[in-house]
Amino acid sequence: MYKTIDDVKMFEFKQLGDERGHLVVAECGKEIPFIIQRVFYIYGSDATVVRGKHANRRSEFVLVNVAGTSMVDVEDVYGAKKTFSLDRPHVGLYLPTMIWKDMYKFSSDSVLLCMSNAVYDADEYIRDYQEYCSIKEKIASKS
Ligand code: TYD
Repeated sequence: MYKTIDDVKMFEFKQLGDERGHLVVAECGKEIPFIIQRVFYIYGSDATVVRGKHANRRSEFVLVNVAGTSMVDVEDVYGAKKTFSLDRPHVGLYLPTMIWKDMYKFSSDSVLLCMSNAVYDADEYIRDYQEYCSIKEKIASKS
């Protein structure tokens, strides 16, 4: 019922371009598996900062480090964990709903582009890790 770590996917965008430079396209229904309703980007975070630290009940995301690099730790409600490195502007990371995520180790030039299927709604964010863990415990007790 809930999405798992196996639904988190790293993928490569096709690189278009020529002698003038590169071009990457993010199109709904092609590279992006949802209709984009929100775009935001994170920059100016340094290597000591941990961002994210939340799960989303309804928002899905594709993250792309369009400049610089960062790391993303993800966890699902079954307790599985994985780490991804975003280090190229043509690599995307798809994050489905209910995945806990921490973004960290931002390079000083990092610009982390985030595309989402949903407009911002603070109420669908789970920001308390204990709350997330209590969902995990409920699931574990049912299995
Ligand atoms: P936050 O969710 O803490 O950023 P991140 O998880 O990427 O580190 O968001 C920082 C602030 O920006 C917080 O006050 C909420 C606000 N915000 C919006 O208003 N709309 C948005 O789409 C996002 C992502 C954040």
